[in-house]
Amino acid sequence: MFNLVTSGLALASVASASWSGLPKFGEKQFSQSFNDGYNLLKHMGSFAPYSDRASYGVDRNTPEGCEVDQVHMLMRHGERYPDAIFAEGYVEVLDKMRNSKVKTWKGDLAFFNDWTYYVDDAGLYSQESTTGPYAGLLDAFTRGSEYRLRYGHLWDSETVVPIFSSGYERVIETARYFGQGFFGYNYSTSAAINIIPEAASQGADSLTPSCTADSNYYTCYADRFYATLPPLEVAAKRFNSQNPGLNLTASDVLQLMETAAFELNVRASTPWADAFTLDEWVAYGYIWDLAYYYCFGAGSEYQTAAGQVYANATRVLMQSGPKAGKMFWSFAHDADITPVVAALDIDVPEHKLPNSTIPFPNPYRVADIVPMGGHLTLERMTCNATTVSKAGVYVRAILNEAVVPYSKCQSGPGYSCPLAKFSAIVDKAPKYDEKCETPSSYPQYLSFFWNYNTTNEYNYQSGDIAYQLTDTDV
Ligand SMILES: *[C@@H]1O[C@H](CO)[C@@H](O)[C@H](O)[C@H]1NC(C)=O
Ligand SMILES: *[C@@H]1O[C@H](CO)[C@@H](O)[C@H](O)[C@H]1NC(C)=O
Ligand SMILES: *[C@@H]1O[C@H](CO)[C@@H](O)[C@H](O)[C@H]1NC(C)=O
Ligand SMILES: *[C@@H]1O[C@H](CO)[C@@H](O)[C@H](O)[C@H]1NC(C)=O
Ligand SMILES: *[C@@H]1O[C@H](CO)[C@@H](O)[C@H](O)[C@H]1NC(C)=O
Ligand SMILES: *[C@@H]1O[C@H](CO)[C@@H](O)[C@H](O)[C@H]1NC(C)=O
Repeated sequence: MFNLVTSGLALASVASASWSGLPKFGEKQFSQSFNDGYNLLKHMGSFAPYSDRASYGVDRNTPEGCEVDQVHMLMRHGERYPDAIFAEGYVEVLDKMRNSKVKTWKGDLAFFNDWTYYVDDAGLYSQESTTGPYAGLLDAFTRGSEYRLRYGHLWDSETVVPIFSSGYERVIETARYFGQGFFGYNYSTSAAINIIPEAASQGADSLTPSCTADSNYYTCYADRFYATLPPLEVAAKRFNSQNPGLNLTASDVLQLMETAAFELNVRASTPWADAFTLDEWVAYGYIWDLAYYYCFGAGSEYQTAAGQVYANATRVLMQSGPKAGKMFWSFAHDADITPVVAALDIDVPEHKLPNSTIPFPNPYRVADIVPMGGHLTLERMTCNATTVSKAGVYVRAILNEAVVPYSKCQSGPGYSCPLAKFSAIVDKAPKYDEKCETPSSYPQYLSFFWNYNTTNEYNYQSGDIAYQLTDTDV
């Protein structure tokens, strides 16, 4: 047995027992492992449950000598049930399997003998999930409570703080649960949910601004891209040969992989994860990277212009500083956040993404940008002089809890960017009012950050969820 008395370390720890930071025997202050970079969640596109972005190794904590004096967050709703319109496709393929001649499932699909579909009440479609370790409302509450610890110094325990949500039920619920996590017992009186309708007539005064000039928007989707990437055909053929009588196609496989990703939004595990090979998951994830990049991201100058609205308004607030407000919590959808990321010149690949090969390293991974619960955080920091920089105001962009330094602007503490230079980056984005041809009768600028309600009438759900939707999303 290990002898504590003769162990030098034990003696040392007795001698310094008052210093609780001393590692226990066998523990290291710093881990020596970095080999956990592989995770299937990074290959499930935007349907993956939340995971932090793979970090560049920059400390998430505020650099020494700096204080965050204003924070902005734009968050996607949390993990959720699929939308009914897309789930029709999953159910169709599952029925095709059940109605095939296969009696006993074999090979990679052996689990299908006992597997059951995870939506048992049609009323749950499109809503936040509440079950399992990846539950959406749990994610939102946890984020709020973590952010209270991180940014609680920005609340003076008196001011009523607005929380902005686009007018869509699952987004509103996410905003509410975040607020309850952040404010705890003070949520009912100190937070004010402001619902910004998603209607196009809101023009630029919106968290979901539509770009009228983007004629591509409503037809641009993943199916435009999957045909050029062959690996999913291979999975279909493998399943069919393991199970004679089955006749799955590549597009059926796409549906099944989406079914798998959503299963994790509701349950702790999905057996579908192991039915596909790593290469198949990589291809699946990349299809979504292509779709977001070309349809809702840096690959579309119209969408980048739509993202300029939030990027610009946030920049204006940072220039005004804390007197304009200290916390701006906003909630919308994935395809409203990727345009903002593009307008901020973050994750903009040097070349257009290739449609028929999968690049490695992949410069645009949507699971690193907008997984469920994905969020972009912008910190305005006032800093003293440091070894690398003068005293001044700096900005840090944080995507899913990883600090993302600008390659061309990182001269500040902790690789942050001086506010004036950050502002110049935002100025380079195509401008919403010039590019999007929004009807002149619609608002051309965002104003709700300066003109919000401080009442709590929308802080809680009341009545039927569907009714609330029609109430707010005209
Ligand atoms: C900046 O320097 C002043 C004067 O030394 C000090 O009081 C203050 O705490 C410093 N701020 C930060 C964020 O370290
Ligand atoms: C916050 O909640 C605590 C506990 O209920 C209460 O004592 C305090 O007065 C509240 N603060 C405000 C500003 O409502
Ligand atoms: C503020 O409240 C007024 C009156 O209820 C309403 O018309 C307006 O849309 C609200 N604004 C926001 C941003 O919630
Ligand atoms: C499989 O489905 C395709 C159409 O998707 C059809 O053309 C083909 O005949 C089917 N094969 C079998 C063996 O059922
Ligand atoms: C990929 O496909 C999109 C949409 O069809 C197209 O706009 C884009 O130019 C293609 N990219 C390349 C690198 O060819
Ligand atoms: C930036 O946003 C502010 C506030 O909405 C607006 O007044 C200003 O015109 C905008 N500037 C640009 C370049 O879009």
